[in-house]
Amino acid sequence: MRLSVLGAGYLGAVHAACMAHLGHEVRVYDIDPAKVALLADGKAPFYEPGFEELLSSTLTTGRLTFTSSARDAIEGSDVHFICVGTPQQQGAEAADLRYVDSAFEAIVKHASCPGTIVGKSTVPVGTARRLADALSQDRTGSQLELAWNPEFLREGTAIADTLRPDRLVFGVDTDTAEKVLAEVYRSLLDSGVPVVTTDLPTSEMVKVAANSFLATKISFINAMAEICEVAKADVVTLSRALGYDQRIGPRFLNAGLGFGGGCLPKDIRAFSARAGELGAADAVSFLREIDKINQRRRDRVVSLASNIFGGDFLGKRIAVLGAAFKPDSDDVRDSPALNVAAAMHLKGAAVGVHDPQAINNAKKQFPTLSYYEHVDEACRAADLVVLATEWQDYRDIDPRVFASLVGQPVLIDARNALNHEVWIEAGWKVHALGRGNLEE
Ligand code: UDX
Repeated sequence: MRLSVLGAGYLGAVHAACMAHLGHEVRVYDIDPAKVALLADGKAPFYEPGFEELLSSTLTTGRLTFTSSARDAIEGSDVHFICVGTPQQQGAEAADLRYVDSAFEAIVKHASCPGTIVGKSTVPVGTARRLADALSQDRTGSQLELAWNPEFLREGTAIADTLRPDRLVFGVDTDTAEKVLAEVYRSLLDSGVPVVTTDLPTSEMVKVAANSFLATKISFINAMAEICEVAKADVVTLSRALGYDQRIGPRFLNAGLGFGGGCLPKDIRAFSARAGELGAADAVSFLREIDKINQRRRDRVVSLASNIFGGDFLGKRIAVLGAAFKPDSDDVRDSPALNVAAAMHLKGAAVGVHDPQAINNAKKQFPTLSYYEHVDEACRAADLVVLATEWQDYRDIDPRVFASLVGQPVLIDARNALNHEVWIEAGWKVHALGRGNLEE
């Protein structure tokens, strides 16, 4: 099939390359000519494991092309995927839908008919119906149809999540739209990927409900961590014991610095805002508490550091390991690691940040912090090391070697990622979140 993809960010670029890999002819449009040029040249504008290899191999087949002309991408395509961002509005909680609306308008303007518009962006429930209504009122007799097909890919595992998703969700108004989506994803369906076919609003709800559930699971265990800290109990053991219960499960139950990134934080806020507009604010008022618990973890790391320094950060050197919002990503949007680094810097500490992939993005957001290319440089002479993003590189650190590098062998493991016994044996004083048992 011939597909157009609008938006070449983490979602659009990965989706497009995966669709070309599955055999479709895919034309990708992005408003940013520099990004288009990079992608057309086989270079990834962001770090995603395996993406550059997939990009090169699909470019070579000639099935994947990039353009900064919306018309070139859209004209002659059968299916049009909207993969643009829906960031949080400036100064408000609701999602900013201007990119979705302009992608939709571009498709309506340039598409040959008949055709199917497929929304993948995360949108407030009701958006798809609004767009579908606009299509049906189109006086030009447009034979375009709208479907919604939310995307669940995670950064760091985006390719596997796209080619082997846990499920596909098709939000459709008609059998025709369902058939088109089934044709797009034929090889995935043949390999047994489950599909849930439903109406437009339910499909939009699946995405925001899934992200709300995941955020809730993380904040739940982080709330338990707060209690463990005062009750001198251990959240890691608690989480392990809870995870064995098959009704609960171990995933997304890692206590630490909490969630960040371009999705979970803004999606739960946008969901609350939308519920308010629909007159159902009470139903998801707990999401505000989820957000607060999440923010408190960041404050807790700063207060732990403050306690270590007797309340005075001035003249203290702190190494922050990690800038990305999670490992295997260079994304620093709402990164808990950078948030903590910036807060300690504001209090007067000399903060040196290391990250295997995210330094360039971090510099753009927090230019006043110091950045190091090598983790040992960041840690040299440090009075405190804070592990803020659990990259494998940091798990591989030999604590004996680093004990001789730093000024003071003091660690805050804000992700509960390290083997504390080994670090303590190597002479380190170890603090961690939710490990009340470690603190004395
Ligand atoms: C998320 C959803 O998982 C994905 O389905 C959706 O399409 C986009 O939003 P992503 O933002 O890439 O994906 O990251 P995810 O793996 O969900 O992690 C989100 C945050 O939660 C990270 O900051 C991570 O460090 C944190 N996290 C995750 C925890 O603090 N504890 C956990 O147990 C799991």
